[in-house]
Amino acid sequence: MSNQVSFIGARGNTISVLAAGSASAERPTLMLVHGFPLDGQFWEPQLAALAERFHVLAPELRGFGQSDLSADDYSLADLADDLEQVRSHLASQQKLFLCGLSMGGYVAFEYWSRHPQHLAGLILTNTKPSSDSEEAQAGRQMMADKAIREGTWAAVEPMLPKLMTPHTSQPEAATKIEAMMRAVPPATVAAASRAMAMRRDFTPMLGDNNLPTLVITGEHDAIAPPEATQQWAALIPNATCKIVANSGHLTPLETASQFNAIVSDFICPQ
Ligand code: MLT
Repeated sequence: MSNQVSFIGARGNTISVLAAGSASAERPTLMLVHGFPLDGQFWEPQLAALAERFHVLAPELRGFGQSDLSADDYSLADLADDLEQVRSHLASQQKLFLCGLSMGGYVAFEYWSRHPQHLAGLILTNTKPSSDSEEAQAGRQMMADKAIREGTWAAVEPMLPKLMTPHTSQPEAATKIEAMMRAVPPATVAAASRAMAMRRDFTPMLGDNNLPTLVITGEHDAIAPPEATQQWAALIPNATCKIVANSGHLTPLETASQFNAIVSDFICPQ
């Protein structure tokens, strides 16, 4: 069972965090960063199962879930600094294991470049280090404009089939994802799309990451495909790459028990 914790961030904004498992010097802290256009509840299977062994924190990015969207546009570096505020409020005794899914992974790369001293390890799931092509940037701008003009669902609906495997054994997970997507305010869709369009390319820096790193993707992930994922993971000196069978882009939800076992084993090898 998770608790919702909210605190006021440096900009006077509310930052919401779903938390499970007690904090103590012996228990590693695992911070989970959701993808787009989702929220902290995405991590319910991890908050439920991993809290037995870890202090689990699932912050909600600006405008998602119960977190405030700042009035201005933001960058992914700003989101990484929000995560640092969460760490300093809720997990200041410990170095973090930071896990980011897709957009959350883009933010995790930024956190690694800005606050590496606070990291014990990185888990990069269903994500990629590269930046957007010009064409992809133009697509993000179109999505941002469409969300403002026609509403969230009109803008994000085409993403839904790319998120889950076509014949998923978890139709209730697909329903949950659709509800999460529909709940995102249009201004949040627009701000996040613009921030992702402007993100940095971390590929040239992968060789500088000496942290223990776990890279995960789904066998059927169309957004972070296995072959490309294995190629960039091989550029990180201390990385292990796992491809999860029967999983699409949302491995922690669609194949939660496999994902949880891989992550537990990485943080505390038996
Ligand atoms: C996500 O799952 O966060 C998105 O697919 C990321 C993206 O649109 O690049």
